[in-house]
Amino acid sequence: MTDPAGAAAAMTNPKLAAARRACDLVESGMRLGLGTGSTAALFVVVLGERVAAGLDVVGVPTSEATRRQADALGIRLATLDEEPELDLTIDGADEIDPGLNLIKGGGGALLREKIVASASRRMVVIADGSKMVDTLGRFPLPIEIVPFGLETTRRRVVALLREMGLAGEPGLRRRPDGSAFETDGGHLILDLSLGAIPDAPALALALSGLVGVVEHGLFIGLASAALIGTQSGTRTIGRI
Ligand code: A5P
Repeated sequence: MTDPAGAAAAMTNPKLAAARRACDLVESGMRLGLGTGSTAALFVVVLGERVAAGLDVVGVPTSEATRRQADALGIRLATLDEEPELDLTIDGADEIDPGLNLIKGGGGALLREKIVASASRRMVVIADGSKMVDTLGRFPLPIEIVPFGLETTRRRVVALLREMGLAGEPGLRRRPDGSAFETDGGHLILDLSLGAIPDAPALALALSGLVGVVEHGLFIGLASAALIGTQSGTRTIGRI
């Protein structure tokens, strides 16, 4: 059925255009990873419309927010333990470089997002053009850490940056009321403004080796394609 109002909205909303294009990749019977953030939320809305029209899929949400949204839209949900291997994950990103390396975690869901993306045969990123960068790092890199020993871990991150010749001061993410932001897993987040990350794979590897660091928002080699919404359609980077 054609939806002139919806099509017109997608033409003027790049994020919605990308979400709609991503939904074209979904086939009945698929096990889907459902991302987090405003763009992923649009995908969940469009997916919910198709489920209401009879599409049979099961979704594994990457956050409590996405779980609540998808559940309210009648999308059948499972945990990753129930569906340990997924066909396709659709998620947003904070930055995308030309090699499809990403910064994620602006919404604080990076840990579950990375676990779900890693469990998927394909991860397709949806975004508007503002997320494309030549070099990652303009967006502060989220680093998820355990609360115990926060200051020790923060200093360890600073020392690592010095060793790697990078300058940046990790700051504890806070809620608008000033309290520390807590992830769905009960962890804290350090946001690290670097300006540019010349060697993202090297930084990703080094951060992963730090005691106290649970995960970081560098997604290296996980996305197979990005759908970039524009005012007039969607541009595809990589292979879908
Ligand atoms: C959530 O933790 C993030 O990784 C989001 O995917 C990212 O912040 C993109 O969000 P928007 O689609 O709202 O820009």
